[in-house]
Amino acid sequence: MPVAELEMLRIDASERLIFALDVPSVDEARELIRQLEGVVSFFKIGIELYVSSGLAIIPELVQQNKKVFLDLKYFDVPETVKSAVERVASLGVSFLTIHGNGQIIKAAVEGRGNAPLKLLSVTVLTSLDSDDMKDLGFECSVEDLVIRRATKALEAGCDGVITSPREADKVRDLATIMKGQDHKFLIVTPGIRPKSSARDDHKRLSHPADAIQAGADYLVIGRPIRESLDPRQAAKDIISEMQTAFDALEIERS
Ligand code: C5P
Repeated sequence: MPVAELEMLRIDASERLIFALDVPSVDEARELIRQLEGVVSFFKIGIELYVSSGLAIIPELVQQNKKVFLDLKYFDVPETVKSAVERVASLGVSFLTIHGNGQIIKAAVEGRGNAPLKLLSVTVLTSLDSDDMKDLGFECSVEDLVIRRATKALEAGCDGVITSPREADKVRDLATIMKGQDHKFLIVTPGIRPKSSARDDHKRLSHPADAIQAGADYLVIGRPIRESLDPRQAAKDIISEMQTAFDALEIERS
């Protein structure tokens, strides 16, 4: 493929890093957003920030042309999920997590309607391993449950899944088999650690480049950036590793 065409197809890794704003106050969130200005443009709001400050930060981020991932992992009866998704769809949020069986996912898809909001179904948390599966009452392996839940998400018309980078390649293959090569099924992976970072509570983790190689579209990363002495530089280093991996994939495909 000619170089000019390759350039047009090039994935910009800085748009594919989602920084987890797991902080207890909106002021701390604002300070991190300020430090990462011009480097990170996609931010995840999870239960910690939501409980302390609600949705206050969302309009601020949207106004600054930044993207928002609301990670509240909705799990409730289908009608409640549908209504709650409708509310989020009107806020300008880009990604929202949901959880549950086919009926719950279908209700969420209905609630989203034609809004540009993308719904991501949670498969199995990266902090869980096979012992935890038994503890939860599941007889199958982690991988089997991931595949089962990804299948349900695909059948229900969900836009993508949250999964460990370890299972990303299997999910990508499944989406291709079920929906075809051109279907854009989003694979978003937390549990990412640069080689120099601690594992923290992740049992099924991976490095940024490996996750992309396995088929991840977006990486969610919090502590390796937030707890770094220089969060801005830590984010830049991760994006640089991601860019090399995306470029290598493009060359492989061309
Ligand atoms: O700090 P760290 O990079 O581990 O942050 C990961 C983020 O991804 C956290 O906000 C956590 O809530 C989220 N997460 C998730 N699903 C998982 C594992 C982590 O949404 N399976």
